Amino acid sequence: MDKYNIIKIHDLVSTNDYALSLRSSEFFHEGLVIVSDFQQKGRGQRGASWESERGKNLILSVVIESRISISKQFDISKIASLSVIDCLFKLGVDSNIKWPNDILVRSNKIAGVLVDNVISQDQVAYSVVGIGLNVNQLNFDTYNPLATSLKLELKKHFSLEQVQNYLLSSLENRIKSYRNKEVLDVKYLDVLFQKDKVSCFEANSIKFNGIIRGVTERGRLIVETGDLINNFDLKDIKMLF
Ligand code: BTN
Repeated sequence: MDKYNIIKIHDLVSTNDYALSLRSSEFFHEGLVIVSDFQQKGRGQRGASWESERGKNLILSVVIESRISISKQFDISKIASLSVIDCLFKLGVDSNIKWPNDILVRSNKIAGVLVDNVISQDQVAYSVVGIGLNVNQLNFDTYNPLATSLKLELKKHFSLEQVQNYLLSSLENRIKSYRNKEVLDVKYLDVLFQKDKVSCFEANSIKFNGIIRGVTERGRLIVETGDLINNFDLKDIKMLF
């Protein structure tokens, strides 16, 4: 990552969609950042929406030239969520990753990550890393998990620009380390929410208790139930808490 090229658009449909719409243009290159105050249709994982009060939070998408095999695409999610963890730590907040990439403070969600990959010649050529980080918002709709923000946690107002700078530099550092072949797994597992603890899950409309033991290379959740160890795709399992 040489440098960021930051484009601010006050109001748009979704920063990820906007970045993706530029993919055949000269603007679409590593380091392109689309930032917005407000998204009309912010997208979350599993087809959910991402709601954020106008001008209160960080909403951005960063283009990364991934050039990795499709089987390694979960690495980009790990890089993105760990960079949010690093940024929050710098600001004085300890956080965890609820698989695959929800960022929680205790059990309240402070940030979400959505990665859209551009596949070319059987490779992930580019990734659009979308991050929504709650900064100064104080009121949230009832939502599961409950939401929180930096202001709710630290009882002070933050400059969005400062948080954005911290986040982008954390992301840059994580990308550099990854390209220098540093492993991400130790840190990812270290901050993985409920790892090695009994949790309640739902899969195929059946509720059961299990223990998260890790994540496969492809990003599937490894859950131990009794004598069995299974792994699950995001669409097949839900953690209940
Ligand atoms: C989730 O937790 O479900 C992921 C939420 C990701 C939200 C961000 S906000 C910036 C970017 N643009 C989008 O439309 N979504 C992501």
